[in-house]
Amino acid sequence: MKKIKVDLGKNSYPLIITHKDLFPAAQILKKQLKEDRLFIITNPKLKKSYQKTLEKAFAGFVSLHWITVPDGEKHKTLLTLEKLAVTLSKKGANRQSALLAFGGGVVGDITGFLAASYMRGIDFYQMPTSLLAQVDSSVGGKTAVDLPTGKNLLGAFYQPKAVFIDTNFLQTLPKQEFACGMAEVIKYGMIADKKFFDFLKRHAKEIHKQSPKALETIIAQSCKIKAHVVSQDEKEQGLRAILNFGHTYGHALEQVTGFNRFKHGEAVALGMLKAVEISIHKNLCSQKTHSELKALLTAYKLPVTWPKINAQKLNSAMAKDKKFQSQNIRFILSENIGKVKIVPIALKELKQ
Ligand code: NAD
Ligand code: GLY
Repeated sequence: MKKIKVDLGKNSYPLIITHKDLFPAAQILKKQLKEDRLFIITNPKLKKSYQKTLEKAFAGFVSLHWITVPDGEKHKTLLTLEKLAVTLSKKGANRQSALLAFGGGVVGDITGFLAASYMRGIDFYQMPTSLLAQVDSSVGGKTAVDLPTGKNLLGAFYQPKAVFIDTNFLQTLPKQEFACGMAEVIKYGMIADKKFFDFLKRHAKEIHKQSPKALETIIAQSCKIKAHVVSQDEKEQGLRAILNFGHTYGHALEQVTGFNRFKHGEAVALGMLKAVEISIHKNLCSQKTHSELKALLTAYKLPVTWPKINAQKLNSAMAKDKKFQSQNIRFILSENIGKVKIVPIALKELKQ
């Protein structure tokens, strides 16, 4: 078991990383819950696969009340949030009640926002089941739903009370989703840790095979980097933006291709390559950084070739991004592997 702290003063919380061991989670819940029931929010597929496992692990500690939301990003909406809130109130949830998000980033983001807003805020816990959620979305307290006008436009910074990461859940995760999580793992190497980047190069075989030890190492190191950044800048006033490396072009690519051609992690992989290309153009890093990143993304079965995309459409998608401020886009650029810099670039310059 590994334990990492997200240090946010009175809102600090632990990330508990285990393999096939839900006992630490059961113990923490037993100690912290204000009532002996817990509302578990998940999707039907995950409920089917894991209801028995969770019921067994938590028996005698806490009783679970299951609530499901349909699977998929298209259900990360205000309507789903409203339905969940109504279900909670019908089941008599009150200010003492707590939620457990059991699923990928979609379930985690929506459950977090539900916890932030139900009765003006109740406790919640994360038990992420996708690699992306285990290394990124369950940590740091960004919660949201999508609006018809854009992704994650309605939400709150609201921290969980603890995050329980069990690598065993990844066994049922589809391979393509695993690769998407690896894009975020590689991102951490690129933004903060050259040694970690090299570890990912050397251990690709064990990681692909999902060796518990290798998984624990990469998840713990990713979470450590994320926790360190979030502890310094919870509400993204500055430093936290580095976690968006590769996401500016990534989000724009997802948007102009209608959110159905690339998965988020795949778009981030292509976005990281584009960010490095701009960095080379600005003399911040060399072509070698690009080749190394490309080789690592390829090793983890992520796309490395940009499709033909209308540049104007891409630029106007970026202009709608949350990172767009006074005609500038705050780009996260690479100063070689393990180091990044925030550089505002005018949309005009980008067009050239
Ligand atoms: P997701 O939640 O849609 O999960 C991907 C698919 O994998 C789904 O079909 C899900 O049911 C399935 N799945 C998850 N765990 C599984 C398991 N153990 N076994 C079998 N199937 C499993 O997508 P995601 O990639 O986990 O998360 C993407 C979402 O996260 C987006 O909405 C994105 O905006 C959000 N996000 C949030 C943050 C944040 O900081 N809050 C960061 C990154 C991404
Ligand atoms: N995923 C980016 C962040 O949490 O800030």
